[in-house]
Amino acid sequence: MFDDFELRGPEATHRAGQLLAPLLQAGDVIGLIGDLGAGKTLLVQGIAKGLAVPEGVRVTSPTFSLINEYRGGRLPMVHVDLYRIEEEGELMHIGLEEMLDNAGVSAVEWCDRFEVLPDDHLVIAFEIESQESRRISVKGTGSRSVALAAAWRAGLGA
Ligand SMILES: Nc1ncnc2c1ncn2[C@@H]1O[C@H](COP(=O)(O)OP(=O)(O)O)[C@@H](O)[C@H]1O
Ligand SMILES: [Mg+2]
Repeated sequence: MFDDFELRGPEATHRAGQLLAPLLQAGDVIGLIGDLGAGKTLLVQGIAKGLAVPEGVRVTSPTFSLINEYRGGRLPMVHVDLYRIEEEGELMHIGLEEMLDNAGVSAVEWCDRFEVLPDDHLVIAFEIESQESRRISVKGTGSRSVALAAAWRAGLGA
């Protein structure tokens, strides 16, 4: 089941990430879909903030580095961006599966480019409605992520 939310303004995207953070458990995987500039990274920044990742740790799109790791928060976080990956073989090369299998939280931008996520993951798809707002669709693909999606929806007051 897809749930839709409207996020009005960048603050709403950041806040949505912050509200998701306390619900996250070790092993949770979040897939992010949406055009460049949709708000995927901003949501991840909100999650990092909500996990209390130290302010000095820069949370940016790992477009060139492919993987960023953020430590020092409630859970370690892995942030992946598949935008520049051309073939599946490169993912083996960077050891993505092992990364997602770790004890922390993982967020994967452009997760629709390759089938790399575990069966049970939360999908957040962004649509650019206008300059001022975004629409996100949220879907769980297994029991854990469905529960996570429901808890998040309650937190968002939707
Ligand atoms: N809900 C929103 N409404 C309007 N603008 C937003 C919203 N969320 C994010 N933005 C803006 O969209 C851009 C998103 O950038 P970014 O998070 O880097 O996107 P992505 O990682 O999807 O490429 C930023 O300029 C941000 O201010
Ligand atoms: Mg990004």
